[in-house]
Amino acid sequence: MDRQYILLFGLFVLYADDGWSLVPKRPFISTRKLEVLSEALDLFRGWTVILYLDPAVPGQTQQSVMALEEMQETFHTTINLGVNERWRPDQQVVALSQGISVLHLVLFIADPTQFLQPLWLDWKPLHLLLFSLAPSSCLDVLSEEVFSSIRSLALIDEIPSEGNGKSNAMGVFTILPFSSSRATFLGKWNPQFFTRREILFPDRFPAFEGYRFELATTLDDEPFLYQRKSDNAISGSGMRMLAALSASLNFTYTMTESAPDHKWGRMENGTWVGILGMIYRKEKKFTVNCFGMTYERMRDFAASEQYLVYSCGAFLLRPHPLATWRNVYRPLQPLVWAAVIASLVVAVGLLTLQERVAGAAMVGGVGSSWLYLLRGPLNQSLPALPRTVWRQMFVGVWYLYCLIISGAYTCNLIAIFTRPTYPQHLHTLQHLVDSHYR
Ligand SMILES: *[C@@H]1O[C@H](CO)[C@@H](O)[C@H](O)[C@H]1NC(C)=O
Ligand SMILES: *[C@@H]1O[C@H](CO)[C@@H](O)[C@H](O)[C@H]1NC(C)=O
Ligand SMILES: *[C@@H]1O[C@H](CO)[C@@H](O)[C@H](O)[C@H]1NC(C)=O
Repeated sequence: MDRQYILLFGLFVLYADDGWSLVPKRPFISTRKLEVLSEALDLFRGWTVILYLDPAVPGQTQQSVMALEEMQETFHTTINLGVNERWRPDQQVVALSQGISVLHLVLFIADPTQFLQPLWLDWKPLHLLLFSLAPSSCLDVLSEEVFSSIRSLALIDEIPSEGNGKSNAMGVFTILPFSSSRATFLGKWNPQFFTRREILFPDRFPAFEGYRFELATTLDDEPFLYQRKSDNAISGSGMRMLAALSASLNFTYTMTESAPDHKWGRMENGTWVGILGMIYRKEKKFTVNCFGMTYERMRDFAASEQYLVYSCGAFLLRPHPLATWRNVYRPLQPLVWAAVIASLVVAVGLLTLQERVAGAAMVGGVGSSWLYLLRGPLNQSLPALPRTVWRQMFVGVWYLYCLIISGAYTCNLIAIFTRPTYPQHLHTLQHLVDSHYR
């Protein structure tokens, strides 16, 4: 079986002198709690578990947690809760922490929010299970701001009892941010009732109960979001989507005409400005303007599904036609030119050799031979023919060759003069890369 352990250790320097002194030296952790934890983990078999261990949890209990069969059978990551809070996880860790099948399990005794707050600016987990090992009930943890936007949240804690605090029953709680500011009791822990993850993690945001969102927008974004000239009504595709969503999810909204600095949203001097700046500073909740996705925006903001894809074009000056003097050599490819010259050289050599062998000078030396042979390509008749048959055959073959070459050259030349030619247009990215425009 594949096991994947990612062990992240950090120096423990966190609130060494304030928080822990409140915690009793050896908190009592009942076996009942371990049992409940093991039953709850059973729902997440096949998932990755990221375990946050409070350093105040006694070593013995830590070992018992790690030894649970359910813990052994899930991929898990162990993180020391005492890690330096200024520590920034790298991109890979973020990708893991926001995974769909990743459970973040926080075992705590003291309130863990101080630790989690800075960490979750980057981590933004989807599924969070808080498990209290504290000797008394701590439901207030749920109302902390740091948990407000987590999609699935549950706390397993002791059910507060009226009597002397010896109830021993564990309950499951969550908080529905838009319905109530107090924890919602989902039921006493019972593996027969909590048989599926959806029961443990109910939808926390079924509707927004008439909540009023403040939106950061600019109304100068035709055709996505703009103010119509005729009646000043706000219109555009973004507006239509917002109207449909607000009706079905039961929320209202306010908009801004533009950002105070009239900018869209980009990093300037290490901080966000414009519309996205207002969202980043938490002055506004979200925007319905249309934004291009850049690396920095993707890193710092969560975006909806993409509903528009632009195609891009590059505009270049039309190049000048090639110079006309080049038309003289362009009918034939460089390789063909080389072959023509080479064959002329060979033919001159052969003709000179023939005169030597025959002993009878007809043309007379190399200088005259190449002029004699050049008459073929230049479409001139010959002043005299050799007398012997084998030399006549040589001249015949040479002339046939010349006919083909000069025919090809002339025809191509006519075609080239008919239409001016341009340097090759850029059709592909590779052309652009090879061109001088880089
Ligand atoms: C929207 O939420 C408010 C506040 O809870 C409620 O009174 C109203 O009936 C809801 N509207 C719809 C259409 O559900
Ligand atoms: C960024 O820095 C430049 C130069 O210091 C300054 O002119 C500009 O106003 C700054 N912009 C913002 C948004 O702070
Ligand atoms: C070769 O010259 C003859 C007459 O001298 C002419 O009719 C013919 O078109 C020419 N051929 C080429 C390919 O120029």
